[in-house]
Amino acid sequence: MCDPQHLHGSTKNVSTNIERIITDMMTYEQARQYLTTHGQAHLLQFYNELSPEQQNQLLQQIAKLDLDRPQFRDRNALTQKRGKFAPLGAMTLDKISRNLEAYRKIGIKAIQNAQIGAVLLAGGQGSRLGFNHPKGMFNMGKTRDLYIFECLFYNLMQVTEQAKTYVPLMIMTSEQNDAETKAFLKEHHYFGYNPDSVYFFKQETEPAVDENGKIFLEEKDSIVLSPNGNGGWFSSMQRTGMLRLVEKMGIEWINVFAVDNVLQQIADPVFIGATIASGCASGGKVVRKASPDERVGVLCLEDGKPSIVEYYEMTEEMRTLRNDDGTLAYRFGVILNYLFRVKDLMHTLDSAFPLHIAHKKIPHIDTNGNKVFPTEPNGYKFETLVLDMVHMQDSCLAFEVDREKEFAPVKNAQGVDSVATAQALLEKNGIVL
Ligand code: UTP
Repeated sequence: MCDPQHLHGSTKNVSTNIERIITDMMTYEQARQYLTTHGQAHLLQFYNELSPEQQNQLLQQIAKLDLDRPQFRDRNALTQKRGKFAPLGAMTLDKISRNLEAYRKIGIKAIQNAQIGAVLLAGGQGSRLGFNHPKGMFNMGKTRDLYIFECLFYNLMQVTEQAKTYVPLMIMTSEQNDAETKAFLKEHHYFGYNPDSVYFFKQETEPAVDENGKIFLEEKDSIVLSPNGNGGWFSSMQRTGMLRLVEKMGIEWINVFAVDNVLQQIADPVFIGATIASGCASGGKVVRKASPDERVGVLCLEDGKPSIVEYYEMTEEMRTLRNDDGTLAYRFGVILNYLFRVKDLMHTLDSAFPLHIAHKKIPHIDTNGNKVFPTEPNGYKFETLVLDMVHMQDSCLAFEVDREKEFAPVKNAQGVDSVATAQALLEKNGIVL
C-alpha cells in the first residue's frame, strides 16, 4: 500500500462510507509523484480526457498499488532459490486397491461427520483455451450440452450419493468472472446439487505489466488487473469471511481442486480415508508420468519436506533417474487435487508465498488509446500457486490415481490437454457426449 502520509483529506465528521472512499484515494498530484518515482507515470496519460468520476476511479486504483514490491522493482529477483530435491514414493494403485474398502469407510465417515469441505479453484482466466467466459461454462458435449461445471458436479454427486449427505462446495471466483459464474450455476440449478451447500468467495487481483515492467492500462480510466493465482485461496477465504464459516461448520479437511479436470473425483472418500489413515498433514493426487519428458510438476521432497518440482526445474539427471526396478525415481506428477488439514493451513496465512511470473497474452490499450488483443504473449502476470502450500506442510501423502480414469484436463483449444483429448477420455469412461 502507498504511504499513508500521501493520503488525501480529513476524515473527521464524515460517514464511514465517505471515510472509506477518501482514505482509498490520492490527489492527482500525489498520484503523479508516486507513479513518476516508480517509473509508471504513463498510467495518467489519459487523465485529462476523463470525467471526474473516471478520474476518481483511476486514482483509487493507483492508491491501491504497492509499487515497492519486488515484481515492480526487479522481476528477476523473483526467481525462487530451491533446496535439495529427493524422490518421494507414493501410495500406489495396487496398495490402494488392497485397502480400498477400509479407506472408503474412513472417508465416508469423515464426510458424514461434516469434516470435509471442497474448494473449487475457478478464478483463472483460461487464456490458453481462448474461451471468453469462465472455463467451467465450456461445453464439452457433442450431441448434447455437457458443461465443465456439470462434469464436476456430476463427479461430486457420485460421492454425495454414497455418503447420503452434501459436501460444502466453496467456489473461488475472481473479480473478472464472479457474476457470470454465479448466474450460470443458478440458471442451471447447480446441476442438481443442493444450492444451500454451494458457497462463493472471490480472490484478489494483481496488476499485469508489459515486457518492460510498465503496468498495462485496460481502459483510459483503469489498469489491467488479473487474478493473483490459485495460491491465495486460503487467505482469500479468510479475507472474505469464508474461513469463519468453515470453522463454524467444523470442517477439518479441505479438498482443493482445479476447474479443468473433467474426470477428477472430488471429495473422493478413498483419498480422504487414505490420507487420514496415513497421519499425513496433506495429500496430493498424482499420476504416473507418461514419459521422462512429460511436462508435469512432480511431487517430491525438498530439504526433507514435501514439495513440487516443476518440469522445467528438473535437471536431465533428475528426469531420467531410475529406481532399481527400472521405474523413474521422480515419476508421480501432480494433477491439482489436494487435501489439506485446516489446522495445518493456519500458519500459511502468515507465510510469504513465492511469486511466480506467467508470460501471457494480455489485452490492453496502447499509447494511442486503441485496444490491443495480442496473439502472442506480450507481458507478465504475477501469481502465487497452491503447489507452494504443499511445501509449507510437514508431510504429504502422494496418492496415485489412474490417469485414464481421473485425469482429463482441458487446458488448450487444441493439441495436448485439449478439448479433444478430454472428450476422448470422457467417452472412454462411458460418458455420452
Ligand atoms: P491454470 O494454471 O490452468 O491457469 O489454473 P488459468 O488462468 O485457468 O489458465 P491459463 O493458464 O490462462 O490458460 C489452474 C487452476 O487454478 C485456477 C484455475 O481456474 C484452474 O482451476 N486459478 C488459476 C484460479 O482459481 N485463480 C487464478 O488466479 C489462477
